[in-house]
Amino acid sequence: MSSADWLLGEFGLAGRTALVTGARSGIGRATAIALAQAGADLVLVGRNVEGLAEVEHKVSGFGVSVRSVGVDLTDLDSVAAVARSVVQSGSVDILVNNAGSIFRAPLLSQTRDHWRDIMTVNLDAVIELTLPIAAGMIERGFGKVVNVASLLSFQGGINVASYTASKHAIAGLTKAMANEWSSLGINVNAVAPGYIETNNTAPLQADAFRSAEITRRIPAGRWGTPEDICGAVAFLCSHAARYVHGHVLVVDGGWMGR
Ligand SMILES: NC(=O)c1ccc[n+]([C@@H]2O[C@H](COP(=O)([O-])OP(=O)(O)OC[C@H]3O[C@@H](n4cnc5c(N)ncnc54)[C@H](OP(=O)(O)O)[C@@H]3O)[C@@H](O)[C@H]2O)c1
Repeated sequence: MSSADWLLGEFGLAGRTALVTGARSGIGRATAIALAQAGADLVLVGRNVEGLAEVEHKVSGFGVSVRSVGVDLTDLDSVAAVARSVVQSGSVDILVNNAGSIFRAPLLSQTRDHWRDIMTVNLDAVIELTLPIAAGMIERGFGKVVNVASLLSFQGGINVASYTASKHAIAGLTKAMANEWSSLGINVNAVAPGYIETNNTAPLQADAFRSAEITRRIPAGRWGTPEDICGAVAFLCSHAARYVHGHVLVVDGGWMGR
C-alpha cells in the first residue's frame, strides 16, 4: 500500500455524510470545509439557510454534495423535526455538535430566561439532534459523534456560569454516550478548544486588558484560529480515531498544561 493510500484509508472521509451545526461561522465553518476537503458530503445546519449560502458555496467547490438546513436551536420541537427529516432523507455517518451560545454577566444578574437559552442551545439541542441520528448510526453499526466542549468543561471561567455549566455537561455527556455506544460501532468524543478568534470571544478580543492577559497565559503565545481546531475534529471523525472513545481532546495552545 502506498503512503497516499494509507493516509486516505486512515483520514479520508469519502462516501461519508457529515452534519455540522453552527456551520455559518467560526469553528463550525472551518470544520465543514475541512470535512469536505477530506471527501465527506455535508449537511450544514445554521440559524437560517440564507446565512449558510457562503459556506455552502465554498464546500461544494470540493466536489462533494452539500445541503443546508435552517433551525433555531432554542426551539427544541423544530430541532427534533429537523433531526427526523434529516434521518429520513439519508444516513448521517458523522455528527459534529458544534453550535453554541454564550451569555456574559455575573451569575447574580442572570435571569431564568438567560440560563435556559444557554442550556437549551448548548445541551438540550444536542440531545434532540443526537438521539435520532445516533439511532440510525447504531442500526448501521457505524458512526462518529464529535461534541464541541470548551476549556470551561474543566474550569469555572469568569461571568459565564451558564456556559460553564453547559460545557461541563457536554464533557460528561460525551463520556456517557461513549459508554453506551462504543461497543455498537459508534465513536463519541469531544474537542475542547482554547481561546479562539471567533464571534463567541469577540468581547474578550475587544477588551485589550483581558486579551493581553489571556495571551500571556497561552504557552503558544497566541490565540487560536478556527483552522487550528478543525483538524482535531476531522481526526476524531476519521478511521484513524477508531479506538478513541469518550475522550475530550483539548486544543488550546497549551493553556491547560500551564
Ligand atoms: N471561540 C472560542 O474560543 C471557543 C472556545 C471553546 C469552545 N467554543 C465552542 O465552539 C463552538 C463554535 O463557536 P465559535 O467559537 O465558532 O463561535 P461562533 O462563530 O459564534 O459560532 C457559533 C455558532 O453557533 C450558532 N448558534 C448559536 N446559537 C444558535 C441558535 N439559537 N440557533 C442556531 N444556531 C445557533 C451560531 O449561529 P449564527 O452564526 O447564526 O449566530 C454560530 O454559527 C461553540 O460550541 C462554542 O461554545 C468556542
